[in-house]
Amino acid sequence: MRIQRGTRAVVTGASRGIGRALSTELAGRGARLGLVARGKEGLEDLAVELPASPDGPHATAAADVSKWGQTSRAIDRLAKRLGGIDLLVANAGVLHYGPFIEQEIEEAEAMVRVNVFGTLYTLKAALPHMLAGRAGHIVVMSSAAGLRSFPWGAVYGGTKAFDRGLAEALRHELAATGISVTTVYPGEYGTTILDHQRDRLPAWRTNEEERPVSELVDAIVEGIEDDHRAVYAPPAVRILGLSGIAPRLTDQILTRVRGRSAAPRPD
Ligand SMILES: NC(=O)c1ccc[n+]([C@@H]2O[C@H](COP(=O)([O-])OP(=O)(O)OC[C@H]3O[C@@H](n4cnc5c(N)ncnc54)[C@H](OP(=O)(O)O)[C@@H]3O)[C@@H](O)[C@H]2O)c1
Repeated sequence: MRIQRGTRAVVTGASRGIGRALSTELAGRGARLGLVARGKEGLEDLAVELPASPDGPHATAAADVSKWGQTSRAIDRLAKRLGGIDLLVANAGVLHYGPFIEQEIEEAEAMVRVNVFGTLYTLKAALPHMLAGRAGHIVVMSSAAGLRSFPWGAVYGGTKAFDRGLAEALRHELAATGISVTTVYPGEYGTTILDHQRDRLPAWRTNEEERPVSELVDAIVEGIEDDHRAVYAPPAVRILGLSGIAPRLTDQILTRVRGRSAAPRPD
């Protein structure tokens, strides 16, 4: 699909980070946005800041995507305001790193609720609107960690593998509907997702590794417009896909690039 005037795009997790940068790019290309996050004020500020759409004002719906009722009501409201949904970006997510055994159960639950149920609810709520239009594109935000999970990121990696599995199957399942699906596997980009624990990161993950979000946004836009099955950003993330067939080799590569803490067990 082309992102242009007339494109009606719903983005979850739109108020900060990747969602905000992507929403800005989509609006700059003429799309009219439906913006979802929990914080109402952040959304309303963004709706005013975005490049204006010739098709009408950008719309907002504050919702916690981990709650089915809130998510379905928000998506229904946005579909009504925009007159339909052509592009859905299921992006909202949270991340807490830490040794599994020490991790507070509330942190682990939050990741499962937002990253698993949030993505599931977003797609469930939006698909009927998109099927009615018989055309459209869905972007699911997985992670490099959804390809190969890392120490201190056991639960996060598990949730992102769920996102991958959901999106991979749907791309095929929706083949005859006019709706396509792209799964995005970002490496490490400079957003607010780790602001709560900048001083307590896994040894294999430093703040200095983070890349500019604009690079990821460009790759996602290309993935949507050229209907890519997957977006690996930066491209080297693709190597992690090897983990399923050559886990030892993947561990060796990771150890060389990120040090022993990325794959401490020598098997
Ligand atoms: N940054 C990276 O390097 C990276 C790498 C791989 C994958 N990802 C994935 O990319 C996505 C976006 O990450 P980001 O780095 O842009 O994060 P971010 O800067 O923390 O932004 C997260 C956005 O999601 C919203 N959000 C959080 N919990 C929500 C909930 N329960 N319901 C609705 N909205 C919620 C936040 O707004 P409110 O707090 O107001 O709700 C915010 O707008 C996530 O799925 C993440 O796992 C990021």
